[in-house]
This record gives sequence, structure tokens and C-alpha cells, in this order.
Amino acid sequence: MSTALEALPPQRVEPIQRLNPFRLLPALLKLRFRGDFSDVVTYSYSIKAGLRAGFWPVRFVYLHRPELVEAVCVKNDKSYIKPLGIEGLRRFLGNGLLTSEGKFHLRQRRMIQPAFHKKRIDAYAKCMVDYSLKRTEQWKDGQELDIHTEMMGVTLEIIAKTMFNAEVAGDAAKVAHALDMITGYQERYGIRWVGKIFDALPLPSTRRLLKAMAELDAIMYRIIDEHCGAEEDTGDLLSMLLQARAEEDGTIMSGQQLRDECLTLFLAGHETTAVLMSWTWWLLSEHPEVEAKLHEELDRVLEGRPAAMEDVDKLVYTRYVVTEAMRLYPPAFGFGRQAIEDNQVGPYLIRKGTIVGMAPFLMHRQPEWYPEPEKFDPERWTPERSEGLPKFAYCPFGGGSRKCIGDQFAWMEATLLLATFAQGWKMRVLPGREPVPQPLVTLRPKGGVPVVLEKRTLAAVS
Ligand code: HEM
Repeated sequence: MSTALEALPPQRVEPIQRLNPFRLLPALLKLRFRGDFSDVVTYSYSIKAGLRAGFWPVRFVYLHRPELVEAVCVKNDKSYIKPLGIEGLRRFLGNGLLTSEGKFHLRQRRMIQPAFHKKRIDAYAKCMVDYSLKRTEQWKDGQELDIHTEMMGVTLEIIAKTMFNAEVAGDAAKVAHALDMITGYQERYGIRWVGKIFDALPLPSTRRLLKAMAELDAIMYRIIDEHCGAEEDTGDLLSMLLQARAEEDGTIMSGQQLRDECLTLFLAGHETTAVLMSWTWWLLSEHPEVEAKLHEELDRVLEGRPAAMEDVDKLVYTRYVVTEAMRLYPPAFGFGRQAIEDNQVGPYLIRKGTIVGMAPFLMHRQPEWYPEPEKFDPERWTPERSEGLPKFAYCPFGGGSRKCIGDQFAWMEATLLLATFAQGWKMRVLPGREPVPQPLVTLRPKGGVPVVLEKRTLAAVS
């Protein structure tokens, strides 16, 4: 470790002092909008977070430079684990890919990775388009609806079909409810023993939460049971996992582990893309000039027929729109790590125990890499304009060994969903109903995105 280490900037004491990591982002945003924003922000010990660490104070550092984020996620990967707060998610998701650590995580990742190879993902394209078209069958010109609920519904159907070969249209309301409960109550479980007390107390909220989780588990186990006995890989992840054997010891996954992995993919794999699509519809509604260019490309490339996997590479502007929407509203707005040993990040010494936060939401708005950062400008992603952008200046899927396993799936899904829905429909956000970012587990649009549907005429489509 180099001797010429710089001291971390002094800790901020207002107004974030009282906040725990989950509430930090809005506070940082306020600082940013006041122009009081630096590359590295350290902040004070929070009592709550100290409790999570077992009564030891914890130091938090937020890093906002690409090379520092890269150092934590890639170069010094072995010096970090997921931060304390992950315990809240572990309570619900168990020990799946998102929450597991070390050798076990690596073993599971190796077993699951083949389901995300390019050939597999290409095969999912038709399902993505079919479910999108099916959803619009009930839509009517001039109808008002919450496009966020629609996007949650369609991405849920797609993840269930592609990963588990299951139909879940009838379960959407239960899954959405369980997700709301997990999102709302995960903080309560940030400290394991406190969570256990909550579980034991006859509180109405605990009863509702446990009931929602039991319903979600019932759906998951029903899907797993439907596959048991199947002797071959039928193209979906679950049938593959039932056949999969660990490289190291040739063992198969236990029922509990299957449940944890499937539930993780079920939840991680649909709300994120749905959130991205919802923000995209809002941005397009606000920027008719971008929408017109998008329509021009869709009409020219698709000539009125449904999009297919072969079109994805040709839908260049469509991809720019997705990329830019995810710059401004990254569904995973922030992620974190905790140092398990002292390590050097750029010029800084990060001490063992420190929680390091990295926020794509803030990184993606740094004027140094994104001139006029608040502007929705899909063409900033042309090769000429995006050349030279540091690798981690755009990091909606994280990086290193914990990088999103579904990134290629998500790119394809978002491109095909945008193409399919925008080909036939415009969404107009109702005046005065602009969505507000709500940073929970994902960056949800608070209160949904109410729109009026406008059918595009056949003349315009053909
Ligand atoms: C726009 C859509 C998506 C975004 C923005 C997104 C973002 C992320 C991010 C930032 C991480 C890393 C978190 C960390 O480092 O702590 C992650 C991990 C993960 N994502 Fe995604 N994700 C998306 C879609 C998906 C999809 C479609 C799937 C599955 C089909 C998926 C499954 C997962 C899993 C299992 C992990 C944990 C990976 C590991 O630790 O090995 N995600 N995602």
C-alpha cells in the first residue's frame, strides 16, 4: 500500500448525520442541487447503522468518481462484501445470488450464468415481444391508465416465462403486494435479532408481511413443483438449474436454494426493467421531438411488423433512448459494499468496516462527463459523442464479480419493449401528474405514471 495516502475529506455533519444509508441519497441529491458536491463524501456515524454493525460505529463514504468505483468493484473486489443493510433483503430472499458471499456466491453464479448466455437471451426475444403485444390487446385510444402498473405486469410475465416457463398473469397482484411489503419493511430486518423480535410480535404489520411472503413462497414453490420430475432442459432457467451440478463437487441445489435463487431472479429481474420503462415513457411524453425520431426509426426499420431479435442491432436510436433514460433514472440508483480489510482506493485509505456507497444516479449527472446533465439527450450516446467516457462513468448495472447477471437480458428486453409499445402507442402523462423519484430498493416513480393512451394510426405505422 502506498505511503502517500490522502486523508478522506472531513465528515459532513449536516443534514445527513441523522440519516441511515437508505435515506442518504435524497440528502446527497439536495447537496448536489445546491452545487455543494464533491467526488468523495464521507459522513458521520449514524446510530442506527452503528446498531446494525453490532454496536460499533460505522463510517460511510460515498464515491463519485469512475476510477474509485472501479477500484472498489473490480480491482479491490476481494476486500469487500455487501454492506450491512443487505441483511434486510436476506430475510426475504434467503441466500440467493444477490445476497450470498464468497465461494458460495461464485459457485452459484457459475451454475446460473449459462441461462444468460447470448444464445439463450436471443431465444427469449420472441416471448418479450409476444407478451408486450398481448398486453396492448385490451388498450383503447384515449384510455387513462397507470403505465407503471402495466410495465410491472408485462415484465413479471416475461421473467416468469423465460426463467421458469410459467404463466403468472393471475398472480401479478399478489407479487406486486409482496414486493411492496418487502420494500417497505426490509429496513426493519437490517439487524437480524431486531427482525426476529418483529417476527415474533403479534403486530398487524408483521402479520400482513408474513402473509404476503407466504403467498409469494407458495407461488414460487408451485412453479418449482411443476418442474420437478422434468428430466430435460426445456430452455428455461429452472429446468436448467434442476439439471445443474456444481463444478467443484457435482452436487445439485437443495429445494431451499432453488427457492432462494428463483425468488431472487423473479424479483430482481422484473421491477428494475419495469421502472426503467416507466421513466422512459415519462421522458418521451415530455420530449415529443425525441419521440418523433424514435417513431421514424421504428417505422423505417420495422415497416409495421412486430420487432424481433434480428432488429435489435438495427434499432440504434431506440437503444440510445434506453441508454439515456437509464442515465437519468438508473433503476438501481445506488449500491454499496463494506470493507473487510484496510485497502487503498485511488489516493484514499479505506479502513476495514467502512461502508462504501456508489450511486449511479449521481455519477450519471456529473457535468464533467455529461454536459447539461439534466437534459434528456439520447444522441449523446452516438459513438462520436460518447467516445472517451470513462468505463464507470456509466454504471447502471454495477461492475466486477457482482455485476448484474441480467444486464444483457435487460438491454434486449428494454429495447424490444420500447420498440413494440412505441410502434403502436403514444403515452401522454397527465398534466400535474409528473412522477417523483422514490428511492426505495429501486428508483420507483412515486404514485406510478398515469398516462392517456394515444393510438398511432396505421397510416403512420405503415
Ligand atoms: C434495467 C434493469 C436492471 C438494472 C438497472 C439492474 C441493476 C443491477 C445492479 C446495479 C446490480 C449490482 C448490485 C450490486 O453490485 O450490489 C444487479 C445485480 C443483480 N441483478 Fe440486475 N438489474 C437489472 C435487471 C436484471 C434482470 C433482468 C435480472 C434477471 C433476469 C437481474 C438479476 C440480478 C441478479 C441476480 C443480481 C445479483 C448478481 C450477483 O451478485 O452475482 N437484474 N442488478
